[in-house]
Amino acid sequence: MTTANKDKLSSARFSQATDAFVEIFTASVDFDQRMAPQDIEGSVAHATMLCKIGILTEAERDSIFTGLKQISEEIEAGNFQWSIQQEDVHMNIEARLTELIGMAGKKLHTGRSRNDQVATDIRLYLRSEIKVIITVLQRLQLALLDLAEKQADTIMPGFTHLQVAQPITFGHHLMAWYEMLVRDKERLEDCLKRVNIMPLGAAALAGTSYPIDRHLTAELLGFSRPSNNSLDSVSDRDFAIEFTADASIIMMHLSRFSEELVLWASAQFAFIELPDAFCTGSSIMPQKKNPDVPELVRGKSGRVTGHLMSLLMLMKSQPLAYNKDNQEDKEPIFDTVDTLINCLRAFADMVPHIEAKPENMYSAAKKGFATATDLADYLVKKGMAFRDAHEVVGAAVKLGLDSKRDLSELSLAELQSFSEMITDDVFDVLSLEGSVAARQHIGGTAPDTVRKAINTARSAL
Ligand code: ARG
Repeated sequence: MTTANKDKLSSARFSQATDAFVEIFTASVDFDQRMAPQDIEGSVAHATMLCKIGILTEAERDSIFTGLKQISEEIEAGNFQWSIQQEDVHMNIEARLTELIGMAGKKLHTGRSRNDQVATDIRLYLRSEIKVIITVLQRLQLALLDLAEKQADTIMPGFTHLQVAQPITFGHHLMAWYEMLVRDKERLEDCLKRVNIMPLGAAALAGTSYPIDRHLTAELLGFSRPSNNSLDSVSDRDFAIEFTADASIIMMHLSRFSEELVLWASAQFAFIELPDAFCTGSSIMPQKKNPDVPELVRGKSGRVTGHLMSLLMLMKSQPLAYNKDNQEDKEPIFDTVDTLINCLRAFADMVPHIEAKPENMYSAAKKGFATATDLADYLVKKGMAFRDAHEVVGAAVKLGLDSKRDLSELSLAELQSFSEMITDDVFDVLSLEGSVAARQHIGGTAPDTVRKAINTARSAL
């Protein structure tokens, strides 16, 4: 046992000072000081409510306001003395408040516990960060729409199994990414509904005997309502798990974008050129231009999913109500927020400068018999059963492979040797342009359809 602080929380109950290592081990102030603005916001609302119900005089309330304002300025200016002895952000601020204003500072914690306080702070913090995330996400969506518009007519191979499947437009491909982000945004907005509920008033776990007005506090803090059950309020972090799950899905999407960008920027594909400002060179190979930004984003997706796993494991097996385990929720939450915002920002900044190489995309689409399905559909429209048409086209593809020619490069006579139903209008469907233009239904890849989808998306944004 060391001589560590004797001025610990509830010190009267203890006859031994906290072990110096335990003091450091249990403290969270190094990371939870990040929630200071929310902690102060919560205290202002709590003091307002305590005064309204007659627990604090107006003079006490006002002196709490003045003290908290000064603390907030000290923190912003970097002059606040954070101390490990005061364990966490809540105790640090309260101790400083009492130092500044005396007795009124000691009354602030009436009818409140750090358990409902911390749950409130995290919710306030996440609420404001989710709004920031949605704003950056929308910036990326806009960038995708602009690029898709420019590339609405650009033909490229569409892939399944990473094998050339059917021709599509680059604009259509970009709009697929856009659609993923639409759902990502909806998920965040939905999550916000469950984040924005107020735990304050649950106190340690059982509520409080003071005649608190939880509706007033909720209203002051912009929460949609007070929570329904005090035990649940101080305990569950499911809202944070849900947020981290939503963040993991976004990162998974960004990781898929990244993978395609990395492939396409390679000399083997050469479909796009990434902006120099988003790539780096190699320290040894002078010719290299590495797609570092998408690679890093792809890597960071694992990190965020890791945080989701941490939070799930943190919560599982915890009995009601609050347990100190929950202090471990902060770092995964903060890092998820930072990582997600940085990755979205990197993409939003990079996407407008992605340069397409339409000639390379076009010749790649020409290579893989991408219009084979169109030929089968052509025969079906002339009266052949689809399975038979599939067979006929398979034979035509074989001839193309053997003679190293695309279907559109076979002669009419050669094509007719596979089916008499084929006439010279067949070349309209064998062209890449004809193939994409024919797919005009909702969700299809035809350039005009893609432009319509972009317009609809623009008015929804
Ligand atoms: N620092 C704590 C946390 O992050 C605050 C709540 C502590 N409550 C308690 N009774 N020890 O969860």
